[in-house]
Amino acid sequence: MCGIIGYIGPKVAYPILLTGLKRMEYRGYDSAGISTISIEDNQRAVNIVKKQGKVSNLENKQTELQGNLGLAHTRWATHGQPSELNSHPHFNDDKSLMLVHNGIIENYLTIKRNLEQRGYVFHTQTDTEVLTKLIDYYHKKCKQKLSTTLQNYEQKKDPLELALRAALHDVVGAYGIVLFHKDTNKLYAAKHGSPLVIGIGKNEHFVASDPAAFLDHTRRVLYLEDEDIAIIKENSYELKSLCSHNGECIKRKEDLVDWDITAVEKNGYEHFMLKEIMEQPQTLANCLAGRLDPQLNDIKFTLKLTLNFIKNIKRISIIACGTSSYAAMAGKFLIEKYLRIPTEVEVASEWRYKNPIISKDDLVIVISQSGETADTLAALKLAKQFGAKTFGIINVVGSTMSREVDSGIYIHAGPEICVASTKAFTAQVLCLNFLLIKLGKIRGDLTETQIQRMISNLLNTPELVKQSLNNIEQIKAAANLIKDKQSIFYLGRGINFATAKEGAIKIKEISYIHAEDFASGEMKHGPIALLEKGFPVVTFVNKNDPLYEKNLSSIQEAKARGAYIIVVADHIDSTLQSYADTILQVPKVPDYLQPLINTIPLQLLAYYTAKLRGCEIDQPKNLAKSVTVE
Ligand code: AGP
Ligand code: GLU
Repeated sequence: MCGIIGYIGPKVAYPILLTGLKRMEYRGYDSAGISTISIEDNQRAVNIVKKQGKVSNLENKQTELQGNLGLAHTRWATHGQPSELNSHPHFNDDKSLMLVHNGIIENYLTIKRNLEQRGYVFHTQTDTEVLTKLIDYYHKKCKQKLSTTLQNYEQKKDPLELALRAALHDVVGAYGIVLFHKDTNKLYAAKHGSPLVIGIGKNEHFVASDPAAFLDHTRRVLYLEDEDIAIIKENSYELKSLCSHNGECIKRKEDLVDWDITAVEKNGYEHFMLKEIMEQPQTLANCLAGRLDPQLNDIKFTLKLTLNFIKNIKRISIIACGTSSYAAMAGKFLIEKYLRIPTEVEVASEWRYKNPIISKDDLVIVISQSGETADTLAALKLAKQFGAKTFGIINVVGSTMSREVDSGIYIHAGPEICVASTKAFTAQVLCLNFLLIKLGKIRGDLTETQIQRMISNLLNTPELVKQSLNNIEQIKAAANLIKDKQSIFYLGRGINFATAKEGAIKIKEISYIHAEDFASGEMKHGPIALLEKGFPVVTFVNKNDPLYEKNLSSIQEAKARGAYIIVVADHIDSTLQSYADTILQVPKVPDYLQPLINTIPLQLLAYYTAKLRGCEIDQPKNLAKSVTVE
């Protein structure tokens, strides 16, 4: 949650920080703040402006926020309501120390009590103020100690770095922090669990939660790892480890961001969500690029697993959250159907605490758009502790998960800005197909002819998705019919159950209409009691589905209670017309591509319904893009 950016260099910091915050507003948007200082200013005056609400409330503050060193934050509150007071940066009593934080300090109450006994007074409800004052406490102590020490080498030590180390050793929880003190021309950053990346420019440096924040200034980046401390100056930066007491510098390979700033702009679309839905033919083409090899009848990516392991996998566990867990459900269906490997799917927040049964012969797959979701990350760490082999299906390049997995595949969907996930889901499903083919080939579960057919169908997905995006007028009409409803059911059977779940979460997230998803056959076991005249029911009918008749029966049961039936179907005929009130037609595809294709009209249905209801589509209430807290 939350977006952080810091800048140090020759330029005026405020516009850089403001633009950076705007680019990261998807990460949190209940309040925002900026603090700056001039490196040249002998007075060492610290400027600070904080506002409740959107980042735009910080516009036109250039007179108050002068200086060329600064930090900024857009918040997603965890401790204390979204208010100006609770918003970041937080500071010590004389406002000499400024700090922004992403994450949760779990033991903040204990630390707070200790500090209160030492005379500290707290003005906000946040855990972040406690961390700030803990650093302040150690800073004062370290300064005193260093000033009384007679040894020269001791005097060369930086008291703020020592204070930061001491404070972070006391802390339990997750953090990505950036801070500065008015007396040092440096930014300090540290990370445990929340992402931070340094941007390396010419005589200037940036540090942010997402490189998108500074991409118009530099593409040279260094991703911080857990327990890293970075000390950032205009012309250089030092990387150290919290675990090493001597404070020696670490060398780490820098990276180059390979996507363009246009990827995080709307490019003429009214919302990022619409842009991200519409660009799916391209994102899927990117995902496919260079990966399918029709000549060799194979998929090009490295599993980093031995032949013996692959042939003897006893079980696959796919762990994820939200939309990524629905892609996982589709994956489970396909792996069990085509490879006959027992596969469990569990949401990470449950799996990590249930003492999961896991052995060295198991493959644990994590799926995540952000690669930073706290629950999924914790599950991944647990799987590694158990000795399981891990594989990641991840979007954000360089993210924590991508560095922790034994092997993995990037989905190459590009930056997904809208909080509601769309293009990541379809690319995740495509990558699960890659894995299916790869495992099927190595294990001999799929024949060469099957693989050949699958590869040629997969190569066609960008075109098929393009065709699925054609129904706009009809989808708008359906949105108009459901926009004032209190509740909607999404029903699906087999692989379409995963898509039903994805359809329901989309409409919930952005239109705030209550939606429930059921396996079609379950409706009659209870939920049917809620049906009444005009109650919308969204479901799927695929002509070649072995359970085609049963799907029609489920529709009939709902229709008999007066439900308004919206069907995503790969055909239109008189039977279907007699059952459905609205048919959203999609191309006919084999089951392994159905989640990817059938989800498209449901993404658009959610979008246009939310639009008609006047909702904040890209930044829905109470949500944030990457959930880096529990
Ligand atoms: C999707 O629309 C959601 N906003 C949410 O469920 C999301 O998929 C979930 O938080 C998992 O995120 P991740 O893929 O980045 O791990
Ligand atoms: N826990 C902090 C707060 O509630 C940080 C939240 C965030 O990550 O935005 O202010």
